[in-house]
Amino acid sequence: MKEREKWSSGIGFILAAAGSAVGLGNLWKFPYIVGKNGGGAFVLIYLAFLFTIGLSVILGEMVIGRATQKNVYGAYRSVSPKFAKVGTLGIITGFLIICFYSAVGGWTVRYMLAYLTTGVSGDPALYFSQFTASPWQSIGCQILFLLITAFIVYRGIAHGIEKASKLMMPMLFVILLVLVVRSLTLPNAMEGVRFFLKPDFSKVTSHTVVAALGQAFFSLSVGMGTLITYGSYIDKKENLQKTAFYVPLLDSIVAMLGGFAILPAVFSFGFAPTEGPSLTFITLPAVFESMPFGRVFGILFFILLFFAAVTSAISMYEVIIAYLVEEKKISRKKAVIGLTCVIALFAAPCALSQGILADFKLFGKTVFDLFDFTASNILMPVGGILMCIFIGYIWKPKNAVEEIRNQGKFSFPLKGIWTFVIKYAAPIAIVVVLLSATGIVK
Ligand code: PHE
Repeated sequence: MKEREKWSSGIGFILAAAGSAVGLGNLWKFPYIVGKNGGGAFVLIYLAFLFTIGLSVILGEMVIGRATQKNVYGAYRSVSPKFAKVGTLGIITGFLIICFYSAVGGWTVRYMLAYLTTGVSGDPALYFSQFTASPWQSIGCQILFLLITAFIVYRGIAHGIEKASKLMMPMLFVILLVLVVRSLTLPNAMEGVRFFLKPDFSKVTSHTVVAALGQAFFSLSVGMGTLITYGSYIDKKENLQKTAFYVPLLDSIVAMLGGFAILPAVFSFGFAPTEGPSLTFITLPAVFESMPFGRVFGILFFILLFFAAVTSAISMYEVIIAYLVEEKKISRKKAVIGLTCVIALFAAPCALSQGILADFKLFGKTVFDLFDFTASNILMPVGGILMCIFIGYIWKPKNAVEEIRNQGKFSFPLKGIWTFVIKYAAPIAIVVVLLSATGIVK
């Protein structure tokens, strides 16, 4: 049998995992959520969650992957056949996320190309609605995005995912820094900084706390086996504690820089801050239009967004591909081609949700919103809880700790705290997020 692929280096894994974590969540959601929820006060709560519960769960996923050296389904099944279903759940979650994520990925491709060629001029809101109203354009761009993602995944772990992440993540960082400098040197930039960071503890309610935790989970890509899959390619010699730490670190740095790159510019030109598609595809193009050399910054921004989206999309893909290759014994090439066709089919209604399918609602939501809600607000938290139960009560923390310590080679000083978080704190906290995100508890 062919030897299982591995990351060529520890840094390869770190950049790929950070690439998965750094995505649209950081750039179009985080700055706004912070501004709305008490600025610096929210950031403190968010960072506290990221480095306690978030980090523990990341380490949990990674250790399952590295110990079993299997895809998400195989990893759970090898310890407990009953828990194989948790793997299946992860695969379904990944599938739903890639469907709506690729719709937005397609928009980033479209805007990147537009800024590189003709520029985006005229009324940005009209520009966006005209583009999304055209089924061929939305689906065409989505397919282009999927093909780029598929190609990287097809090339494999070291030559595809790792190489792409090693190229795109440093560039993403540099571009982001350029944008931060530009944004912070604009007139009245401080107003945006104030909106972003001025601590306002009076805005901190239970809702804020839950929002911080929910954002932390989505942003770290945990709960669907991304890091089980990526972790399964980590060399047995690596120190998991060290590598795990970089993921929330890089993720939070990019989220903060995203806030500094976006909000000061928005305020400087007198626009109101928003989130999601309207921030990225309407407000920011309007900002670039008002700015000297705005086109250049538009190009940079959409390249940034595209890199962030692709490096996340490949991680969703790989979860499913690893399963198809290892469990279904399909060749990587066939698996990638087949999966891309199936995704394209289910993803198309997501791309059309802003256009011709805007009024087509299931459970009161467009297909895009339904996939997003189900995967991000229900399935990812459920997957996270089950992962903690799996380590805490099925596989047992003692086995996980052995793997983290590389059979005694490293010390694991936080062993007690980690075990406590995995067994109690994390599952309880995620249950709270889940109840609140689904509207069961307000
Ligand atoms: N973490 C990514 C973001 O912030 C989203 C993501 C979720 C990626 C699940 C992979 C898996 O945009």
